[in-house]
Amino acid sequence: MQRLINKVVEVFNAQFGKEQLVVSAPGRINIIGEHTDYNLGYVFPAAIGEAIYFALGPSNNPTKCTCHSIDENESFSFDLNDIEAIPSPTWKNYILGVVAELQNTGKTIQGFNLAFSGNIPVGSGMSSSAALECGLCFGLNELYNLGLSRKEMALISQAAEHNYAGVKCGIMDQFSSLMGKKDQAFILDCRNLELTYVKVDLQNYSLVLCNSNVSHSLVTSAYNERRQQCEDGVAQVKTKYPNVQSLRDINMDMLNELQPILNDTVYKRCKFIVEENQRVLDMGKAFENRDLEDIGRLLNEAHYGLRYEFEITCEQTDFLADQFVDNKFTPGARQMGGGFGGCIIAVVETEKLNDVIKEVSSAYAMKYKEATFLPIEISNGCHLVNN
Ligand code: GLA
Repeated sequence: MQRLINKVVEVFNAQFGKEQLVVSAPGRINIIGEHTDYNLGYVFPAAIGEAIYFALGPSNNPTKCTCHSIDENESFSFDLNDIEAIPSPTWKNYILGVVAELQNTGKTIQGFNLAFSGNIPVGSGMSSSAALECGLCFGLNELYNLGLSRKEMALISQAAEHNYAGVKCGIMDQFSSLMGKKDQAFILDCRNLELTYVKVDLQNYSLVLCNSNVSHSLVTSAYNERRQQCEDGVAQVKTKYPNVQSLRDINMDMLNELQPILNDTVYKRCKFIVEENQRVLDMGKAFENRDLEDIGRLLNEAHYGLRYEFEITCEQTDFLADQFVDNKFTPGARQMGGGFGGCIIAVVETEKLNDVIKEVSSAYAMKYKEATFLPIEISNGCHLVNN
């Protein structure tokens, strides 16, 4: 981490002169609750040690901004009075989006320079894009004393993702990057944005991430399609229950009653969300009671739902989840994040962790490719870094 901080400062200094501030913006894990955020349900995420680091300072032109991605080895400049999304997918849209959405809230900023680099694997379901948005928003808020709350910054960053990156995401990732606390996960009610911190202490067990190193090229369209299917479900349920605003207001009895008018796909999607919301609440209790059996069962049920009902897993992540669960030292495992690849999150007996990793990784390497294993360090949300 210090190495990355030194690098961004060095590159910034060489390109732009002395930086004014350095920001750390973390990625996240999600213990349980996938695709529930935009359905105004519950999620159970935490910020982690992997992060993007930013060096930032004002530019010597009031409207000109220059940003350098060290990892992409690419720079670009834009004018604050002339911001437009770039039609093809690129990291630049996250930057443009944050600046434009900040301006849309009526805040005024001046030209700035930026260099950044990180260690959140892209496309792994660990929210590198939210870290990019939130870290920049946080940095600009500090640099120009904008007086934004963390919640406001999360909403601005989410709007950037919707309107500039084209992903109709929920609020989980941005909240995690901004609201995370060391050693604590939190249950977020995505309807009223209230959060409840939960200490992560599983005694003899550890949470571990296993990156399948697979990411789906159609993930944006598939993600937006799932969101649309959930909205279709709500619209149909409303014909009988007009007060329903989101899948959060629906229970399984209502859904089963309406099953005859819902198409099979929409029914399966809605069923997953209704049950996943309940799993988040149950997981909160299981963490409080350190009930490893329940924790494992809920992870496994979630993976089943992701696989057969929400249909967002892939062959490789199904294989990995099965490998973990076939091992008697792993009570549970599931695919994490937006879907179609990325990471598995598993709970493993700490003493046996190395053996489990060895077994899972050799089975995966034999059939597919190398997996990457990451220990999870639950960390603070966006913050300034002394360098
Ligand atoms: C992505 C989105 C989040 C959330 C997850 C799935 O990470 O950005 O808002 O919907 O997928 O849980």
